[in-house]
Amino acid sequence: MARATQTRNGEKPQDAIALLKQDHRTVEQLFEQFEETEDGEGIPIAQRVCQLLTIHTQIEEEILYPAAKESLSSEGEEEGEMVYEAEVEHASAKDLIAKIEDMTEQDEQYNATVKVLSEYIKHHVKEEEGEMFPALRKSELDLKEIGQRLLERKQQLMTAMGVTEEESDAAPARKRATSKSRSGTKSQAASRAKSKSSGRAARH
Ligand SMILES: [Fe+2]
Ligand SMILES: [Fe+2]
Repeated sequence: MARATQTRNGEKPQDAIALLKQDHRTVEQLFEQFEETEDGEGIPIAQRVCQLLTIHTQIEEEILYPAAKESLSSEGEEEGEMVYEAEVEHASAKDLIAKIEDMTEQDEQYNATVKVLSEYIKHHVKEEEGEMFPALRKSELDLKEIGQRLLERKQQLMTAMGVTEEESDAAPARKRATSKSRSGTKSQAASRAKSKSSGRAARH
C-alpha cells in the first residue's frame, strides 16, 4: 500500500499525468519569464529551468517511461515506439541543458541556446500530452500509484539538488489572473514591493 505523501505545499498527491502536466506548465511559464528579461538578468531563471527539467526528465525516465514501454508495447508497435522517441528527445534536451549550465552571461549564444531548448521542450511536451498521455490514460496502468512514486522521487531529487519549490511555481493560475489586469497600476507596484521573493517572480 502506497504511503500518502503530501506535497510540500500541502496539496493532495495527483495522478502521474496531472503531476507531469503541472511540471510542464511551470517550465513553460519560466521560459516565458526568461524571454521578458533584459541581458543577463534571466540567468537565474534559466538555471532554475535547467534544474527542474533535469529532475522532470529523470523521474519520467526512471518511473513513467519503463511502465509506459511495457504497457504500450503490448498494444502495438507504434505505441511502444513513442516512448523510445521520447527518450531520444530527452537525450538531446539534456545536451542543451548541459551547454546552458556551462555557459556564462558573457556567452553570446546564451539566449539563443535557452530559446532552442524552449522550442525543443515545447515540441516534446506536445507529443507527451497529445499522444503518450492519452495512450496511458487508456492503458491498464495505475496512474495514481505511478503519480505517488513520481512525487516521492521528485521531492527526493529536489532535496538532493538543493532545489526549492517556489510559490510562483505552484500557482500558475496567478500569473494568468494578474496578466489580465492593466499594467502600470499602483497596486502592481505595491504587490511588487510586498513580494518576498527575489522580485523576478513579481514581474508582470
Ligand atoms: Fe514531460
Ligand atoms: Fe519527457
